[in-house]
Amino acid sequence: MRPQPDFIHEFVAGSSERTLLLLHGTGGNERDLIPLGRELDPRAALLSPRGKVLENGMPRFFRRLAEGVFDLEDLRKRTHELADFVIAAAEHYEIDMKKIVAVGYSNGANIAASMLLLRPEILPAAILFRAMVPLVPETQPNLSSVRVLIGAGTLDPIVPASEAKQLAELLRRAGADVTIRSFEGGHELTADDIDAAREWLMTLR
Ligand code: MLT
Repeated sequence: MRPQPDFIHEFVAGSSERTLLLLHGTGGNERDLIPLGRELDPRAALLSPRGKVLENGMPRFFRRLAEGVFDLEDLRKRTHELADFVIAAAEHYEIDMKKIVAVGYSNGANIAASMLLLRPEILPAAILFRAMVPLVPETQPNLSSVRVLIGAGTLDPIVPASEAKQLAELLRRAGADVTIRSFEGGHELTADDIDAAREWLMTLR
């Protein structure tokens, strides 16, 4: 029997080989980023899971102890759980894993970054909007064929500009090709983020 994708999720079929793995922010759900996914790439398939952790009723992808202070044990466990979901979903929906691009916002970007660091075989490319350094792995992954776009807000009260730069450096040390773009604004997504992500996606094979 095929493994079943075991997160509540949406899957929208596409007309190209690409699949965007959409990872929402705190308090979001599997429907939240579908319009963003369509805007970024109208032809891609969309796979959008809902985070399994609840914080005061708000779905997240892993537990945190305070704003920006993560429960690292839970983060590791949830990262592997999400990576295994991607594998199961790829089999179930016949997704080409070489054509997956993660698109994460805030908490979703943090778990995508964690997946790059702990399960480097899963994601060939990722767009990380308002991401932090989720953890520093014990062994450096090989990300030499991975491409990453980080979208930061110059006035983000949750993710200081220095944190986005640290994440870019951590991923670059592991060999990833990282583009970092900063936009005037806070933690929320801006039209400039979306334009930059759309352009960056066009540079992927
Ligand atoms: C996180 O918990 O992942 C970050 O603090 C971002 C957020 O979700 O607010």
